[in-house]
Amino acid sequence: MSFDFQSMRSRPRRNRQSAVIRAMVEETSLSISDFMFPVFVMEGTNKKEPIASMPNIFRYSLDRLLEEIEECYKLGIRAFAPFPSLTDEYKDAMATSSHNPENIYLKAITAIKEKFPDVFIMTDIAMDPYSSDGHDGIYKDGKILNDETLEVLGKMAVAQARAGADYVGPSDMMDGRVAYLRHALDKEGFQDVGIIAYTAKYASAFYGPFRDALDSEPRFGDKKTYQMNPANVREALLEAKLDIEEGADMIMVKPALSYLDVISKLNQNSNIPIVAYNVSGEYAIVKAGAEKGWIDGEKIMLETLLSIKRAGAKIILSYFAKEVAQILSKK
Ligand code: PBG
Repeated sequence: MSFDFQSMRSRPRRNRQSAVIRAMVEETSLSISDFMFPVFVMEGTNKKEPIASMPNIFRYSLDRLLEEIEECYKLGIRAFAPFPSLTDEYKDAMATSSHNPENIYLKAITAIKEKFPDVFIMTDIAMDPYSSDGHDGIYKDGKILNDETLEVLGKMAVAQARAGADYVGPSDMMDGRVAYLRHALDKEGFQDVGIIAYTAKYASAFYGPFRDALDSEPRFGDKKTYQMNPANVREALLEAKLDIEEGADMIMVKPALSYLDVISKLNQNSNIPIVAYNVSGEYAIVKAGAEKGWIDGEKIMLETLLSIKRAGAKIILSYFAKEVAQILSKK
């Protein structure tokens, strides 16, 4: 066979031939400032409880959480997304404790900001951690009430802003919540408190380990009347359009890995930062595979996180944030 090798002018392998060239032409990379670290806080003192389905992630009492944040701070992490893990005595149908200034979550936000003033905190807005029904909104006669829920969410947002939240993150998927929260915050003088909207939040099986951590599994039914159908991407564009019109400062896609196409589409169709939530189930899968020795956990972690950035996310909420920070700080 005669082949004209001279005619093969383009050889993409040239740009892969050394580590220096590969680093120079690298299109995407991970840095510590890309990450937000979700952390779980609970009542009590000197408590650090493991979560069976999330190796290396713990529920902390506030005193121990501050130690954990200090460790992360030393590694360069500056952004945190706390979630409350509450026992039944703090749960009721209207999620009343969510805006009680004495609740452990609000106390934790204030304590973190006092100890680490330059740390960024995104709080979570949804009723489920405080709801005896385990739903993100008010449950009545088999339905989740949209407009009545907004009132509760508004109170939560103002209470969190008062406690020191930098941005609030509505993860509830009620219609109109971004506009409602923007109005509620502005009315109380919190113009600088931003909104990271969980814009395309899917009704996903990947949240299982998180619900274990919070004991927030819906007591009946599922979340399909408010969270999005995993089959849809055009609907995510509608949600993004509404959230941006309503005043969102950043929009989020959740989960991340099975929804890279959604991240990519929103990135092409909007001009505010995209956040991706690399959720608990995505974390658990990698950890389980690595524990079995079937995959290289560290390499898979870095490759999947890179894929989330490559798809178009600027910021990643991930339970891997601390591990990544450990790796990057050694480089
Ligand atoms: C609920 C909420 C969920 C997560 C964050 N906020 C779970 C749910 O919708 O049931 C999941 C995060 C994760 O799985 O890591 N407001």
